[in-house]
This record gives sequence, C-alpha cells and structure tokens, in this order.
Amino acid sequence: MKKIALITGVTGQDGSYLAEFLLKKDYKVFGIKRRSSSFNTKRIDHIYDKKELKDKFQVFYGDLLDGSSLLNIIEEIKPDEIYNLAAQSHVRTSFDVPEYTTDVNALGTLRLLEAIRRLKNKKKIKFYQASTSEIFGNTTSPQSEKTPFKPASPYAISKLYAYWITKNYRDAYNIFAVNGILFNHEGCRRGETFVTRKITSAVARIFHGSNEKIFLGNLNAKRDWGDAEDYTESMWKMLQQKKPDDYVIATGKSYSVREFVREAFSNININIKWKGSGLNEYGYDSKSKKVYIKISKIYFRPTEVYELRGDPRKAKKVLKWKPKTDFKEMVKKMVNFDIDNYGKTNFY
Ligand code: NAP
Ligand code: GDD
Repeated sequence: MKKIALITGVTGQDGSYLAEFLLKKDYKVFGIKRRSSSFNTKRIDHIYDKKELKDKFQVFYGDLLDGSSLLNIIEEIKPDEIYNLAAQSHVRTSFDVPEYTTDVNALGTLRLLEAIRRLKNKKKIKFYQASTSEIFGNTTSPQSEKTPFKPASPYAISKLYAYWITKNYRDAYNIFAVNGILFNHEGCRRGETFVTRKITSAVARIFHGSNEKIFLGNLNAKRDWGDAEDYTESMWKMLQQKKPDDYVIATGKSYSVREFVREAFSNININIKWKGSGLNEYGYDSKSKKVYIKISKIYFRPTEVYELRGDPRKAKKVLKWKPKTDFKEMVKKMVNFDIDNYGKTNFY
C-alpha cells in the first residue's frame, strides 16, 4: 500500500520541495494551507497542474492556530508520516510579532502532537518537527546535537519549546517523533525577505538593467548555508530509521553575508569592494565605482546570532546523508534562476 504523508507548510520553500520528493517516492501526499487574502500556492501550483499526480496530491485548508482543523484532517487522511514545516519562520519579524510567532511555532506543534496522541484509530504515525540551528544562538561553532541551547529571538525560543515538546511526547507517549535541527538552507523557492534570495533577486534585476541599491543589515553575520533540496531528503531519512532521534543537518562551513554578496555579484561579473564602516559602509563595483550595497538599520535585529556552523557527523554516520551542493554552486543556481525568470509571474 502507498504510504500517506501530511505536510504542514506545504506552500513554503521546504514544503513544496518535500512534496515533490515524496511524490517521486510514490507517496500519496496531503498538504495543509492556510487561508490568505491573496494566492499563496505559487510554489505548488505546478504540482497540481501535472495530470499524472491528480489523485496523489491534495491540499486542505487548515491552520496551526486551529487545533480542530488539524485533528479533523489527521483523522480523515490517517497519515503514516506527518512533516510539521509550517511556521512563522522569519527571525527578524518574530521580534515584531512575538505572541503570534509563539502561538504558531510552539503551540502549533503541541496541537499536532496532541492530535496524534488523541487519535482514536491508534495507527502509528511518525512525526517530523522542523527544528532549527537558531536554538543554539550565540554558542561556539561548530554546533552539534550536544551543544547547549541559547536561543536569541522570540522565533528561536518558540522553536526551542517545539523541540522539547516533541522530545517529551516521544518519551512520554512513545510517539515516533524526531527533531531535524536544520541549519540555513536556501534555493530558488526561498522567500525574498530572507537575505540570500533578497540578494540574488536584486542581482538579477540589476543584471536586467535596474538601477537599484540593496539595503542590508549586519554584513558580518555568518551562516552555514546549504541547499534546500538536499535538506528535504534528510527529513524523510529521519523518519525511515528504526528509532526516533534528533539530528543536525548542515554543511559544516559558514560564510558571512558580505561573502554571499560578493559571490552573488561575481556571477554577473561585478567585483564588489567595500568602503566605510558601520551604517556608513557601502559596497561598490571595483570597475565602474557604482554603489550597489548600502546599510540600513531597519534590517538589524535587537539581538543577533553572529555565527552558526553545524557539525553534521551524526547525520552522515546514521542517516548516510551528506550535502551534495556547495556554497558557490548554490549561489550560482539561485542567481541564474532569478535571471532566467525575471519578469515572469508563474515560474516554479
Ligand atoms: P517558509 O518558506 O516561510 O514556509 C513556512 C510555511 O508555513 C508556509 O507554507 C506558510 O504558509 C506556513 N504557515 C505559516 N503560518 C501558518 C499557520 N498559522 N498555519 C499553517 N501554515 C502556516 O519556511 P521554510 O524555509 O520552508 O521552512 C520550513 C520550516 O523549517 C519552518 O518551520 C522553518 O521555521 C524551519 N526551518 C527553516 C530553515 C531554513 O533555512 N529554510 C532552517 C531551519 C528550520 P504561507 O505560504 O501561507 O505563508
Ligand atoms: N533577512 C535579512 N535581511 N537578513 C539580513 C539582512 C537583510 O537585509 N542583512 C543582513 N542580514 C543577516 C541577518 O541579520 C542574519 O544574521 C543573516 O543575514 C541571515 O538572515 P535570514 O536570511 O533572515 O535568515 P536567519 O538565519 O535569520 O533565519 C533563517 O534560518 C534559520 C536557521 O538558522 C530562517 O530560515 C529561519 O526560519 C531558520 O530557522
């Protein structure tokens, strides 16, 4: 019998890649989307459009804020695996909407676990929780499964609650529940308010003649940036193990936002140099001297995480997972995608 998967956050970056991945593995895939005032399905519309997937992919309205919707969907479809990817996932925004972030990310996870626990039909459901390197905050790199947690934003704190409640339901109720502690992962479907896609989409517009400047915050923050498609595979692998456990997924290398900017511009043959300091620093083309990057204080966070770099040895050993795409390839892929799809409205 075909396995059944339920993905919360199916309209997001990871949810859309995971849906495609599971469909290739011949799962029947259900997703949950929330109601919004404009279309929010641009990352999955192409899956609907494929005739051969008509009976294999279906999306329900639901919301992590609405426990009854989650329970009803789970009771109706009786999934083998649930991937909880839905979240208010923006760290900077979590300082503006801390209560909402906590409700969705922390209590939303609890609502799903409770729905699994209370299910009348005691089918053994496996549960994946989208945890994050942000729970480590400003600890010494590289961070592994053994690093103590020091979250530094409402987002990170909400995700730390979700991490612990997942672990607690595993221990208390014998639920197959795992935390994937994923470091930053990016791709062509990354939201444009995250720094990588903000940069690559602007570089593409500049390539096509835009005269804009990119306003950024902290250029010195370092992140361990991997490729989103590589990372979604690890989620599935975690649920195929004999025993539930938690895993760090990372490349093991970190780069600064400044390095990301230089790498992205190098793909359109612009060599960025830096001048000035603090809020007055700017990035310019070493040949034409044209300024492309400026700093704006609105993009700084009240508390910043300076470096995240993961140690993925456990995942390599147990899951036999390793990243396939390196930093340069990933940046190139994103810039080229944005250049090729410039001006198009339907491109996933
Ligand atoms: P994303 O693109 O922001 O997607 C988030 C998804 O959650 C979207 O489908 C969104 O729906 C949905 N959502 C938000 N609030 C919801 C609610 N109240 N009820 C139901 N759905 C809701 O995030 P992502 O990059 O794919 O990340 C997936 C998960 O991994 C998130 O939990 C994130 O926190 C975590 N994570 C991400 C990374 C990373 O680097 N990408 C690293 C570690 C952990 P709309 O489309 O309607 O907005
Ligand atoms: N968004 C943004 N915009 N970030 C900027 C900017 C800017 O203009 N300028 C500098 N940055 C810096 C941020 O301060 C941060 O240090 C870094 O770029 C990365 O920011 P984001 O791309 O917003 O990602 P994030 O690391 O805060 O969070 C992402 O990764 C987490 C995993 O570590 C999100 O995907 C989270 O959901 C995920 O948990």
